[in-house]
Amino acid sequence: MRFLRTVLCCVLLSGLVSAQAATPTAWANDPQVESKIDALLKQMTLDEKVGQLITYSQGAPTGPGTGRSDYKDMVAQGKLGSIFNLTGANQTNEMQKIAVEKSRLHIPLLFGLDVIHGFRTEFPVPLAMSATWDPAIVEQAAHVAAKEASHAGVRWAYSPMVDIARDARWGRIVEGAGEDPYLGSAMAAAYVRGYQGAQLGGPESIASCSKHFVGYGAAEAGRDYNAAEIPVRLLRQVYLPPFQATVDAGGATFMSAFEALNEVPASANAMTLTQVLRKEWGFKGFVVSDWNSIGELIPQGVAANHAAAAAKAFLAGVDMDMESNAYGPHLADLVKSGVVPQAAVDESVRRILRVKFALGLFDHPYADGKGSNAIAPEDAELARKVAEESFVLLKNDGGLLPLNASGRTIALIGPLADDARQMLGSWGAKGEAKDVVTLRSALTKQVEAAQGHVIYAKGSDILTMSDKGFSDAVGAAKKSDIVVLALGEDAEWMTGEAGSRANLDLPGNQQQLLEALVAAGKPVVLLVFSGRPLVLNWAAQHVPAIMEVWFPGVQAGPAVTNLLLGTSSPSGRLTVSFPRAVGQEPLYYDHLNTGRPADGADLSRPPKNSGEKYLSRYIDVPNSALYPFGYGLTYSATTYSPTSVGVANLSAKDLNAGTARLTVSAEVKNTGSRAVDEVVQLYIRQTGTSIVRPVRELKGFRRVGLAPGASQKVEFTLGRDELKFWNLDMKDVVEPAQLTVWVAPDSTGGKPAQVAIGQ
Ligand code: BGC
Repeated sequence: MRFLRTVLCCVLLSGLVSAQAATPTAWANDPQVESKIDALLKQMTLDEKVGQLITYSQGAPTGPGTGRSDYKDMVAQGKLGSIFNLTGANQTNEMQKIAVEKSRLHIPLLFGLDVIHGFRTEFPVPLAMSATWDPAIVEQAAHVAAKEASHAGVRWAYSPMVDIARDARWGRIVEGAGEDPYLGSAMAAAYVRGYQGAQLGGPESIASCSKHFVGYGAAEAGRDYNAAEIPVRLLRQVYLPPFQATVDAGGATFMSAFEALNEVPASANAMTLTQVLRKEWGFKGFVVSDWNSIGELIPQGVAANHAAAAAKAFLAGVDMDMESNAYGPHLADLVKSGVVPQAAVDESVRRILRVKFALGLFDHPYADGKGSNAIAPEDAELARKVAEESFVLLKNDGGLLPLNASGRTIALIGPLADDARQMLGSWGAKGEAKDVVTLRSALTKQVEAAQGHVIYAKGSDILTMSDKGFSDAVGAAKKSDIVVLALGEDAEWMTGEAGSRANLDLPGNQQQLLEALVAAGKPVVLLVFSGRPLVLNWAAQHVPAIMEVWFPGVQAGPAVTNLLLGTSSPSGRLTVSFPRAVGQEPLYYDHLNTGRPADGADLSRPPKNSGEKYLSRYIDVPNSALYPFGYGLTYSATTYSPTSVGVANLSAKDLNAGTARLTVSAEVKNTGSRAVDEVVQLYIRQTGTSIVRPVRELKGFRRVGLAPGASQKVEFTLGRDELKFWNLDMKDVVEPAQLTVWVAPDSTGGKPAQVAIGQ
């Protein structure tokens, strides 16, 4: 009997363990790992502990370096636990061998890298990936990155960047999922699932790093590294949710941001790093600083020297120092002098070792270097598919697209038509220009296969003001039936870190090139390669077809060509608002209503009376976006029925208790002649609430495939999670309200329905 009970108990227990292993956060709660860590902590000297709390870069690609590059001695002495920017099985294994064989306690190294939108197989930049509105495909892309990185020894991606960005001037808007917290959360979780796989210890899993915690995307005036002022309610409502989504998805690490958040540097901010992240969300992984962000507490003015900076950052909750050289020289002294408790150091070491154990590094420290020489064909195929889903058709007058190439001459013009390196976007990791198929090469091949002809002319540079190439370009246009124009930004210089811009026009003299080509009289298709929304007013008025293609990655050419020629249909939707003028920034769809809304104000003449004048508006541009959040055309046409709701009345009490939910639906019909992937979106607005709520908020979305003529009822449910908000009393609850819901093709469309939420 006792034997039976024991067997039964073991069976149940193992059931429990495997059920636990299946949860995304299982790695954080393994008692066996915790006791191994206890044993290690007992043996570690204070210096060895501090060694686990620092990471150094091989080289200094993104900041002032420490001037070091050879870390072998430190590793052998157990004084360095992690290295980044070192990749490749041979290189990482060589260093790992020192850690595992020569260091006293054989603790393996963790190798990190900015794997942002791919490792070798570069996918479209993250802003483009978000425009797919397809978390499943983003997860697949992240998994490919994890696979490639892990074989090269990199088990830690400094990604996803989940900063909400509402200001297109900020260069790093390209690295995130745009302006919306709901979509941003879905994308954030998708990256974590893709990187970390079913189990962090899987051979092709890598640890994610949610960054930059928090508020970095709200940099004042869009200038990188600038301070951010975010009222606490807004922080909780908009900026924190994507980070929390990564904790819920089991994300193993976080990176603290550079900026001063509400006057307290994000890398010394106990409220966010300890109160919110650890106490409220229960995060069990570790926090690394951003590059030198601990050292930057000195110019920010809250620390007199590196020792003081180390104390502030550490006590606020930053476990690991990236490149500040603050913890290395000072943390042990701070412990000895009693400024930093020994127990706190032990806890931080525990968090880091926990992640190393979870990754299986103690058992499998070495990389196998598999597949390092080339991109696998199926991964290239996925990169093409993601790119195709990410393109947003902004305008298509007269159905100019898709093009019929048969027997026709196409002038392909522009500095981005044949520039392989640009296609990799910012943070290209180990992407190689030679892997990129450019638009010129893919389009020429496909058009020639259709007995057509492509004439290529570069026309201009991206950045210079030279017009030397204009006459060739205009000549090519005149000889052709149609012009395909590839214009946009310089990926490396104008997008990503330190890529803030005060102007959002086409750079260099590309606008002049565009105007010269439109004047040549042939129909123009404008392809915009950019890492942010640009101001496209002139093009919107004078160019019949415009498609935003971002920086599409290694399969840029085939993906763009497939859309141009109609092999595939556009299905991407904007995740950032495209302004009419820089002066509208920050511009985002989920703004609050004023007491004097000015929708539809007539700007063609001065106001006739004070009722027309004293409105919340600009006198020179409409308030609205040129192309709004959620917007994107297809090659077909879709209609939406009025939104319908399951019930007209609900109670806040039931919603809060989780016992009530609301179904919302609409019939979506493809009335055109081509198949579409329609991104059906659900928006809400709540009025009569204790605080002002946004004019619209995204609370659901679904990609729906519709054959020509087909229609589908698309249904969503709204419950506590979607309807709650941080109210006047700073409680995260559903309040009695008048609820308006829209099932819509974008943030401005749809036919609303009303629901009363009573007590
Ligand atoms: C960036 C981070 C990046 C880090 C390491 C910093 O300059 O802000 O996003 O992960 O460098 O390269």
